Amino acid sequence: MKTVIVIGALGKMGQAALSGLKNHKVITAGRSGEVDHIVDITDEQSIINLYEQVGHFDAVVNTVGYCEYATFDEMSESQWMTTVTSKMMGQINLVRIGQRYIAEGGSFTLISGILNVKPIPMAIADATTSGAIDTFVKCVAYELPRGIRINAINPTVLEEAWAVYGEMMPGFQPVPSALVGKAFERSVAGFITGEVLFVDA
Ligand SMILES: NC(=O)c1ccc[n+]([C@@H]2O[C@H](COP(=O)([O-])OP(=O)(O)OC[C@H]3O[C@@H](n4cnc5c(N)ncnc54)[C@H](OP(=O)(O)O)[C@@H]3O)[C@@H](O)[C@H]2O)c1
Repeated sequence: MKTVIVIGALGKMGQAALSGLKNHKVITAGRSGEVDHIVDITDEQSIINLYEQVGHFDAVVNTVGYCEYATFDEMSESQWMTTVTSKMMGQINLVRIGQRYIAEGGSFTLISGILNVKPIPMAIADATTSGAIDTFVKCVAYELPRGIRINAINPTVLEEAWAVYGEMMPGFQPVPSALVGKAFERSVAGFITGEVLFVDA
């Protein structure tokens, strides 16, 4: 059994991750609501506070990555930066800071999303930052110390989120949260590193 911090635990992707981590000791974190620790992944000090408060942990599973949606022409620099600050740098900072706190042989699991390989209108910032995260895990895996592993989960849309995103995604087949949960489980419990785990129908 590993001690796993799940960030964004109350969100749809957080719930998917939790479904795959039932054999582990889970510590929940998020920006608001009924979680064990409050954290804002866009704030370095907040990330430091989370790791300091938790103490010992073997894995970090992050499911947070706020994205703005607009056409490329209409998306402002501020909307780009909001997305980059959360989905890209927020996740990179969780690893950059967390590598000093996580147990030897621990793991980080980040979230990307299928839109970097199956683009749709309005989602250029989500797609671009998802691609950045996929590249980040593949490359930083070579640099992490003390046997620390890192992977990204790259799912298609969840069945549980189809009511929100389905209209934007004609021709996509949603997948159940439980299936995506298996990918999180494989990343946390296995020995793979530097991999992008695609979950698509
Ligand atoms: N849902 C899908 O089908 C799907 C598929 C593929 C990829 N993804 C990716 O998964 C990620 C999460 O999506 P989701 O559907 O789970 O979203 P969601 O249901 O809106 O949940 C997001 C969670 O993250 C929290 N959060 C937002 N900003 C935060 C921050 N700066 N620090 C800490 N917590 C923060 C939110 O807290 P508050 O309630 O306080 O805002 C909320 O609990 C996104 O990057 C998305 O692109 C989603």
